[in-house]
Amino acid sequence: MCVDGARLLGDLEALGRIGRVPGGGLTRTSFSAADAEARAWYRDRCAEAGLSVRVDGIGNMFVSSPDEEPALDGVPAVWSGSHLDSVPNGGRFDGALGALAALECVRRLHEERVRLSRPVRAVGYSDEEGNYSHLFGSSALVRGFTSADLEALTGRDGDRFVDTFTAAGWDLDRATRTTVDPAAIHSTVELHIEQGPALERLGHQIGIVSAIVGLGGGTITFRGRADHAGTTSMAMRKDALTAASALIVQFPDIARSVSDQAVVTAGIITVEPGAANVVPEVARMTVDFRDLDAAHLAALDRAITTAAHGVAARRGLDVRVDFEPAIPPSHMDDGIQRIIGESAAARGLLGSSLPSGAGHDSQNMAKLAPTGMIFVPSVGGRSHCPDEETADRDIVNGANVLLDTIIALARG
Ligand code: GLV
Ligand code: MN
Ligand code: MN
Repeated sequence: MCVDGARLLGDLEALGRIGRVPGGGLTRTSFSAADAEARAWYRDRCAEAGLSVRVDGIGNMFVSSPDEEPALDGVPAVWSGSHLDSVPNGGRFDGALGALAALECVRRLHEERVRLSRPVRAVGYSDEEGNYSHLFGSSALVRGFTSADLEALTGRDGDRFVDTFTAAGWDLDRATRTTVDPAAIHSTVELHIEQGPALERLGHQIGIVSAIVGLGGGTITFRGRADHAGTTSMAMRKDALTAASALIVQFPDIARSVSDQAVVTAGIITVEPGAANVVPEVARMTVDFRDLDAAHLAALDRAITTAAHGVAARRGLDVRVDFEPAIPPSHMDDGIQRIIGESAAARGLLGSSLPSGAGHDSQNMAKLAPTGMIFVPSVGGRSHCPDEETADRDIVNGANVLLDTIIALARG
Protein backbone atom coordinates (compact mmCIF):
# COMPACT_ATOMS: atom_id res chain seq x y z
CA MET A 1 0.00 0.00 0.00
CA CYS A 2 1.23 3.53 -0.82
CA VAL A 3 0.23 7.11 -0.15
CA ASP A 4 -1.22 9.18 -2.99
CA GLY A 5 1.97 11.14 -3.69
CA ALA A 6 0.40 13.63 -6.09
CA ARG A 7 -2.34 14.45 -3.60
CA LEU A 8 0.16 14.95 -0.77
CA LEU A 9 2.36 17.21 -2.93
CA GLY A 10 -0.73 19.19 -3.96
CA ASP A 11 -1.71 19.63 -0.32
CA LEU A 12 1.79 20.89 0.57
CA GLU A 13 1.63 23.34 -2.31
CA ALA A 14 -1.81 24.62 -1.24
CA LEU A 15 -0.94 24.95 2.46
CA GLY A 16 2.33 26.68 1.45
CA ARG A 17 0.26 29.52 -0.04
CA ILE A 18 -1.35 30.31 3.33
CA GLY A 19 0.58 32.95 5.26
CA ARG A 20 2.90 33.69 2.30
CA VAL A 21 4.84 36.93 2.74
CA PRO A 22 6.66 39.08 0.16
CA GLY A 23 9.94 37.38 -0.76
CA GLY A 24 8.43 33.88 -0.85
CA GLY A 25 8.62 32.87 2.82
CA LEU A 26 5.62 32.25 5.02
CA THR A 27 4.62 33.51 8.43
CA ARG A 28 1.99 31.33 10.09
CA THR A 29 2.29 32.32 13.72
CA SER A 30 0.00 30.35 16.03
CA PHE A 31 -3.43 31.94 16.65
CA SER A 32 -2.83 34.58 13.94
CA ALA A 33 -5.22 35.08 11.01
CA ALA A 34 -2.91 32.91 8.83
CA ASP A 35 -3.00 30.15 11.44
CA ALA A 36 -6.83 30.29 11.49
CA GLU A 37 -6.84 30.07 7.68
CA ALA A 38 -4.48 27.06 7.75
CA ARG A 39 -6.61 25.31 10.39
CA ALA A 40 -9.79 25.92 8.37
CA TRP A 41 -8.09 24.63 5.20
CA TYR A 42 -6.89 21.50 7.08
CA ARG A 43 -10.38 20.85 8.47
CA ASP A 44 -11.85 21.23 4.96
CA ARG A 45 -9.41 18.54 3.69
CA CYS A 46 -10.54 16.25 6.53
CA ALA A 47 -14.24 16.90 5.81
CA GLU A 48 -13.70 16.31 2.09
CA ALA A 49 -12.13 12.91 2.92
CA GLY A 50 -14.98 11.99 5.29
CA LEU A 51 -12.71 12.14 8.37
CA SER A 52 -13.68 13.46 11.82
CA VAL A 53 -11.73 16.21 13.59
CA ARG A 54 -11.62 16.89 17.31
CA VAL A 55 -9.88 20.02 18.62
CA ASP A 56 -8.71 20.30 22.23
CA GLY A 57 -8.72 23.44 24.36
CA ILE A 58 -5.25 24.62 23.29
CA GLY A 59 -5.84 23.99 19.59
CA ASN A 60 -4.29 20.55 19.07
CA MET A 61 -6.25 18.78 16.30
CA PHE A 62 -6.97 15.03 16.21
CA VAL A 63 -8.23 13.36 13.03
CA SER A 64 -9.80 9.92 12.83
CA SER A 65 -11.96 7.77 10.60
CA PRO A 66 -15.64 7.76 11.62
CA ASP A 67 -15.79 4.14 10.44
CA GLU A 68 -13.53 2.93 13.22
CA GLU A 69 -14.87 -0.32 14.64
CA PRO A 70 -16.66 0.05 18.01
CA ALA A 71 -14.40 -2.75 19.30
CA LEU A 72 -11.47 -0.28 19.13
CA ASP A 73 -13.20 2.07 21.57
CA GLY A 74 -10.79 2.68 24.46
CA VAL A 75 -7.91 0.81 22.77
CA PRO A 76 -4.65 2.86 22.97
CA ALA A 77 -4.16 4.69 19.67
CA VAL A 78 -1.21 5.21 17.33
CA TRP A 79 -0.64 8.96 16.86
CA SER A 80 1.16 10.61 14.00
CA GLY A 81 1.48 14.30 13.26
CA SER A 82 3.41 17.53 13.37
CA HIS A 83 2.49 21.23 13.26
CA LEU A 84 0.86 23.80 10.95
CA ASP A 85 2.44 26.94 12.48
CA SER A 86 5.74 28.38 11.21
CA VAL A 87 8.55 30.66 12.30
CA PRO A 88 8.44 34.23 10.89
CA ASN A 89 9.45 34.16 7.20
CA GLY A 90 9.89 30.37 7.37
CA GLY A 91 9.63 27.64 4.76
CA ARG A 92 6.72 25.49 3.62
CA PHE A 93 7.89 22.06 4.88
CA ASP A 94 8.78 22.45 8.57
CA GLY A 95 5.78 20.92 10.35
CA ALA A 96 3.52 21.00 7.28
CA LEU A 97 5.14 17.86 5.86
CA GLY A 98 4.53 15.72 8.96
CA ALA A 99 1.03 17.09 9.55
CA LEU A 100 -0.09 16.53 5.95
CA ALA A 101 1.65 13.16 5.53
CA ALA A 102 -0.11 11.89 8.68
CA LEU A 103 -3.41 13.17 7.29
CA GLU A 104 -2.65 11.39 4.00
CA CYS A 105 -1.93 8.13 5.86
CA VAL A 106 -5.23 8.29 7.78
CA ARG A 107 -7.00 9.19 4.53
CA ARG A 108 -5.50 6.15 2.72
CA LEU A 109 -6.37 3.77 5.59
CA HIS A 110 -9.93 5.14 5.56
CA GLU A 111 -10.26 4.90 1.75
CA GLU A 112 -8.99 1.32 1.67
CA ARG A 113 -11.08 0.35 4.72
CA VAL A 114 -7.93 -1.14 6.28
CA ARG A 115 -8.75 -3.00 9.50
CA LEU A 116 -6.12 -2.62 12.24
CA SER A 117 -5.99 -3.68 15.89
CA ARG A 118 -5.46 -0.11 17.13
CA PRO A 119 -7.04 3.25 16.29
CA VAL A 120 -4.89 5.70 14.31
CA ARG A 121 -4.96 9.48 14.84
CA ALA A 122 -3.47 12.21 12.66
CA VAL A 123 -2.45 15.07 14.94
CA GLY A 124 -1.75 18.77 14.35
CA TYR A 125 0.06 20.21 17.39
CA SER A 126 -0.52 23.84 18.34
CA ASP A 127 2.28 26.49 18.40
CA GLU A 128 5.19 24.06 18.01
CA GLU A 129 7.46 26.96 17.09
CA GLY A 130 6.79 28.37 20.51
CA ASN A 131 5.72 31.94 19.84
CA TYR A 132 4.13 31.71 23.29
CA SER A 133 5.98 28.73 24.81
CA HIS A 134 8.28 26.14 23.27
CA LEU A 135 6.39 23.05 21.99
CA PHE A 136 3.24 24.63 23.41
CA GLY A 137 0.60 22.14 22.20
CA SER A 138 2.43 18.98 23.21
CA SER A 139 3.46 20.58 26.52
CA ALA A 140 -0.26 21.16 27.15
CA LEU A 141 -0.86 17.44 26.57
CA VAL A 142 1.99 16.37 28.85
CA ARG A 143 1.72 18.74 31.80
CA GLY A 144 -1.14 21.16 31.11
CA PHE A 145 -1.16 24.90 31.77
CA THR A 146 -2.83 26.71 34.66
CA SER A 147 -4.61 30.05 34.14
CA ALA A 148 -1.62 31.72 35.85
CA ASP A 149 0.78 30.00 33.40
CA LEU A 150 -1.27 31.23 30.44
CA GLU A 151 -1.60 34.76 31.86
CA ALA A 152 2.21 35.02 31.98
CA LEU A 153 2.82 34.14 28.31
CA THR A 154 3.73 36.76 25.73
CA GLY A 155 4.47 36.43 22.03
CA ARG A 156 7.45 37.77 20.13
CA ASP A 157 5.42 40.81 19.06
CA GLY A 158 4.81 41.66 22.72
CA ASP A 159 1.17 40.50 22.69
CA ARG A 160 -0.24 38.62 25.68
CA PHE A 161 -1.25 35.04 24.83
CA VAL A 162 -4.58 35.40 26.63
CA ASP A 163 -5.51 38.47 24.56
CA THR A 164 -4.57 36.98 21.19
CA PHE A 165 -6.15 33.61 22.02
CA THR A 166 -9.51 35.01 23.12
CA ALA A 167 -9.58 37.58 20.28
CA ALA A 168 -9.18 34.63 17.87
CA GLY A 169 -12.31 33.06 19.42
CA TRP A 170 -10.71 30.44 21.70
CA ASP A 171 -11.97 29.66 25.21
CA LEU A 172 -9.48 30.19 28.08
CA ASP A 173 -11.31 27.81 30.44
CA ARG A 174 -10.93 24.94 27.99
CA ALA A 175 -7.25 25.83 27.46
CA THR A 176 -6.40 24.68 30.99
CA ARG A 177 -7.99 21.24 30.49
CA THR A 178 -5.80 19.56 27.90
CA THR A 179 -3.70 16.81 29.47
CA VAL A 180 -4.11 13.29 28.10
CA ASP A 181 -3.98 9.97 29.89
CA PRO A 182 -0.80 8.24 28.62
CA ALA A 183 -2.78 4.97 28.69
CA ALA A 184 -4.78 6.31 25.72
CA ILE A 185 -1.67 6.42 23.49
CA HIS A 186 0.03 3.28 22.20
CA SER A 187 2.85 5.04 20.32
CA THR A 188 3.60 8.12 18.25
CA VAL A 189 5.59 8.70 15.07
CA GLU A 190 6.39 11.99 13.30
CA LEU A 191 7.71 12.60 9.79
CA HIS A 192 9.79 15.78 9.43
CA ILE A 193 12.37 17.36 7.16
CA GLU A 194 15.87 16.92 8.56
CA GLN A 195 16.59 20.69 8.64
CA GLY A 196 20.32 19.89 8.45
CA PRO A 197 22.76 18.56 5.80
CA ALA A 198 23.52 14.98 6.99
CA LEU A 199 21.19 12.92 4.75
CA GLU A 200 22.00 14.94 1.65
CA ARG A 201 25.76 14.52 2.27
CA LEU A 202 25.33 10.76 2.74
CA GLY A 203 23.05 10.46 -0.29
CA HIS A 204 20.50 8.66 1.95
CA GLN A 205 16.74 9.05 1.63
CA ILE A 206 15.51 8.22 5.14
CA GLY A 207 16.75 9.37 8.55
CA ILE A 208 15.95 7.19 11.56
CA VAL A 209 16.05 9.64 14.45
CA SER A 210 17.94 8.27 17.44
CA ALA A 211 17.47 11.22 19.84
CA ILE A 212 16.29 14.84 19.99
CA VAL A 213 18.44 17.58 21.53
CA GLY A 214 17.64 19.04 24.92
CA LEU A 215 16.92 22.73 24.94
CA GLY A 216 17.44 25.47 27.51
CA GLY A 217 17.32 29.23 27.66
CA GLY A 218 15.02 32.17 28.24
CA THR A 219 15.92 35.85 28.46
CA ILE A 220 18.87 37.93 29.65
CA THR A 221 18.30 41.60 30.43
CA PHE A 222 21.11 44.14 30.82
CA ARG A 223 20.14 47.43 32.47
CA GLY A 224 22.48 50.42 32.19
CA ARG A 225 21.66 54.12 31.88
CA ALA A 226 19.98 56.19 29.16
CA ASP A 227 22.12 59.16 28.11
CA HIS A 228 22.48 61.64 25.28
CA ALA A 229 24.21 59.98 22.31
CA GLY A 230 26.05 63.17 21.40
CA THR A 231 27.19 64.58 24.74
CA THR A 232 28.05 61.42 26.71
CA SER A 233 31.66 60.35 26.16
CA MET A 234 32.31 56.67 25.51
CA ALA A 235 34.01 56.42 28.92
CA MET A 236 30.95 57.79 30.76
CA ARG A 237 28.42 55.39 29.25
CA LYS A 238 26.57 52.43 30.74
CA ASP A 239 25.37 51.11 27.40
CA ALA A 240 23.16 48.02 27.80
CA LEU A 241 23.42 47.02 24.14
CA THR A 242 27.23 46.98 23.98
CA ALA A 243 27.11 44.82 27.14
CA ALA A 244 24.69 42.39 25.43
CA SER A 245 26.99 42.36 22.39
CA ALA A 246 30.03 41.60 24.59
CA LEU A 247 28.17 38.55 25.89
CA ILE A 248 26.94 37.35 22.51
CA VAL A 249 30.42 37.35 20.95
CA GLN A 250 31.42 34.83 23.65
CA PHE A 251 28.73 32.31 22.58
CA PRO A 252 30.90 30.41 20.05
CA ASP A 253 33.67 29.88 22.63
CA ILE A 254 31.18 28.96 25.38
CA ALA A 255 29.55 26.36 23.10
CA ARG A 256 32.96 24.93 22.06
CA SER A 257 34.08 24.72 25.69
CA VAL A 258 31.10 22.48 26.52
CA SER A 259 30.91 20.07 23.56
CA ASP A 260 31.26 19.70 19.79
CA GLN A 261 27.47 19.63 19.42
CA ALA A 262 26.51 22.49 21.73
CA VAL A 263 24.87 25.50 20.06
CA VAL A 264 23.90 28.89 21.54
CA THR A 265 21.73 31.51 19.81
CA ALA A 266 20.49 35.02 20.62
CA GLY A 267 17.58 35.32 18.16
CA ILE A 268 15.79 38.44 19.43
CA ILE A 269 17.17 41.63 20.98
CA THR A 270 15.00 44.54 22.07
CA VAL A 271 16.43 47.85 23.19
CA GLU A 272 14.88 50.57 25.36
CA PRO A 273 14.18 53.38 24.95
CA GLY A 274 15.01 52.56 21.32
CA ALA A 275 15.97 55.88 19.75
CA ALA A 276 18.90 56.60 17.43
CA ASN A 277 20.16 59.42 19.63
CA VAL A 278 19.82 57.77 23.06
CA VAL A 279 22.39 55.41 24.63
CA PRO A 280 20.45 52.15 25.25
CA GLU A 281 19.33 51.78 28.86
CA VAL A 282 17.91 48.26 28.55
CA ALA A 283 18.89 45.41 26.21
CA ARG A 284 16.82 42.26 26.49
CA MET A 285 17.71 39.19 24.47
CA THR A 286 16.46 35.68 24.04
CA VAL A 287 18.95 32.85 24.51
CA ASP A 288 18.41 29.36 23.07
CA PHE A 289 21.00 26.69 23.84
CA ARG A 290 20.95 23.01 22.89
CA ASP A 291 22.90 19.80 23.35
CA LEU A 292 22.22 16.05 23.21
CA ASP A 293 23.54 15.54 26.75
CA ALA A 294 21.66 16.79 29.85
CA ALA A 295 24.94 17.44 31.73
CA HIS A 296 26.12 19.64 28.85
CA LEU A 297 22.87 21.62 29.00
CA ALA A 298 23.49 22.32 32.69
CA ALA A 299 27.09 23.35 31.85
CA LEU A 300 25.84 25.74 29.16
CA ASP A 301 23.37 27.29 31.61
CA ARG A 302 26.18 27.86 34.15
CA ALA A 303 28.71 29.18 31.61
CA ILE A 304 26.30 31.67 29.99
CA THR A 305 25.04 32.89 33.38
CA THR A 306 28.60 33.38 34.68
CA ALA A 307 29.65 35.19 31.49
CA ALA A 308 26.60 37.51 31.68
CA HIS A 309 27.39 38.46 35.28
CA GLY A 310 31.06 38.96 34.34
CA VAL A 311 30.19 41.38 31.53
CA ALA A 312 27.79 43.32 33.77
CA ALA A 313 30.29 43.58 36.64
CA ARG A 314 33.13 44.80 34.38
CA ARG A 315 30.90 47.49 32.87
CA GLY A 316 29.03 48.54 36.02
CA LEU A 317 25.57 47.47 34.75
CA ASP A 318 22.83 45.27 36.22
CA VAL A 319 21.93 41.98 34.64
CA ARG A 320 19.08 39.53 35.13
CA VAL A 321 19.16 35.99 33.77
CA ASP A 322 15.69 34.39 33.47
CA PHE A 323 16.20 30.86 32.16
CA GLU A 324 13.30 28.40 32.12
CA PRO A 325 13.77 24.78 33.22
CA ALA A 326 15.50 22.98 30.34
CA ILE A 327 13.61 20.51 28.15
CA PRO A 328 15.79 17.39 28.51
CA PRO A 329 17.20 15.47 25.52
CA SER A 330 14.94 12.63 24.49
CA HIS A 331 15.72 9.18 23.10
CA MET A 332 13.55 7.67 20.41
CA ASP A 333 12.07 4.22 20.97
CA ASP A 334 14.38 1.38 19.79
CA GLY A 335 11.49 -0.76 18.51
CA ILE A 336 10.08 2.10 16.40
CA GLN A 337 13.57 2.89 15.05
CA ARG A 338 13.81 -0.75 13.96
CA ILE A 339 10.39 -0.62 12.21
CA ILE A 340 11.39 2.57 10.33
CA GLY A 341 14.69 0.99 9.24
CA GLU A 342 12.93 -2.18 8.05
CA SER A 343 10.34 -0.20 6.12
CA ALA A 344 13.03 1.90 4.41
CA ALA A 345 14.96 -1.25 3.44
CA ALA A 346 11.81 -3.00 2.17
CA ARG A 347 11.12 -0.02 -0.09
CA GLY A 348 14.71 -0.06 -1.38
CA LEU A 349 15.66 3.19 0.37
CA LEU A 350 18.93 3.97 2.11
CA GLY A 351 18.40 4.87 5.74
CA SER A 352 20.75 6.09 8.43
CA SER A 353 20.47 6.77 12.12
CA LEU A 354 20.97 10.39 13.21
CA PRO A 355 20.08 12.74 16.07
CA SER A 356 17.86 15.82 15.70
CA GLY A 357 19.30 19.25 16.47
CA ALA A 358 15.85 20.79 16.09
CA GLY A 359 13.19 20.55 18.77
CA HIS A 360 9.99 18.61 18.01
CA ASP A 361 6.71 17.78 19.72
CA SER A 362 7.94 14.18 19.63
CA GLN A 363 10.32 14.95 22.49
CA ASN A 364 7.31 15.74 24.66
CA MET A 365 5.27 12.82 23.33
CA ALA A 366 8.16 10.46 24.22
CA LYS A 367 7.27 11.17 27.86
CA LEU A 368 3.80 9.70 27.26
CA ALA A 369 4.39 6.78 24.88
CA PRO A 370 7.05 5.04 22.76
CA THR A 371 7.90 7.59 20.07
CA GLY A 372 9.85 7.64 16.81
CA MET A 373 10.75 10.15 14.11
CA ILE A 374 11.48 9.81 10.41
CA PHE A 375 13.58 12.43 8.58
CA VAL A 376 13.79 13.19 4.87
CA PRO A 377 16.62 15.25 3.31
CA SER A 378 16.63 19.05 3.32
CA VAL A 379 18.21 20.57 0.21
CA GLY A 380 21.42 22.31 1.32
CA GLY A 381 20.46 21.55 4.94
CA ARG A 382 18.48 24.83 4.98
CA SER A 383 15.47 25.42 7.26
CA HIS A 384 13.66 28.18 9.21
CA CYS A 385 14.05 30.32 6.09
CA PRO A 386 12.17 30.71 2.77
CA ASP A 387 14.80 28.53 1.00
CA GLU A 388 13.65 25.39 2.83
CA GLU A 389 13.28 22.68 0.16
CA THR A 390 12.83 18.92 -0.06
CA ALA A 391 12.62 16.97 -3.33
CA ASP A 392 9.20 15.57 -4.29
CA ARG A 393 10.47 11.98 -4.41
CA ASP A 394 11.93 12.32 -0.88
CA ILE A 395 8.58 13.63 0.40
CA VAL A 396 6.70 10.68 -1.09
CA ASN A 397 9.32 8.17 0.12
CA GLY A 398 9.11 9.58 3.64
CA ALA A 399 5.31 9.48 3.62
CA ASN A 400 5.34 5.83 2.48
CA VAL A 401 7.76 4.88 5.26
CA LEU A 402 5.47 6.74 7.67
CA LEU A 403 2.47 4.76 6.37
CA ASP A 404 4.32 1.43 6.82
CA THR A 405 5.37 2.42 10.33
CA ILE A 406 1.85 3.45 11.35
CA ILE A 407 0.44 0.17 9.98
CA ALA A 408 3.11 -1.90 11.74
CA LEU A 409 2.42 -0.12 15.06
CA ALA A 410 -1.37 -0.34 14.68
CA ARG A 411 -1.28 -4.02 13.69
CA GLY A 412 0.67 -4.83 16.84
C1 GLV B 1 11.73 24.21 16.35
O1 GLV B 1 11.83 24.20 15.15
C2 GLV B 1 12.90 24.33 17.18
O2 GLV B 1 13.85 23.54 17.00
O3 GLV B 1 12.94 25.26 18.00
MN1 MN C 1 9.05 21.52 13.03
MN1 MN D 1 10.70 24.75 13.23
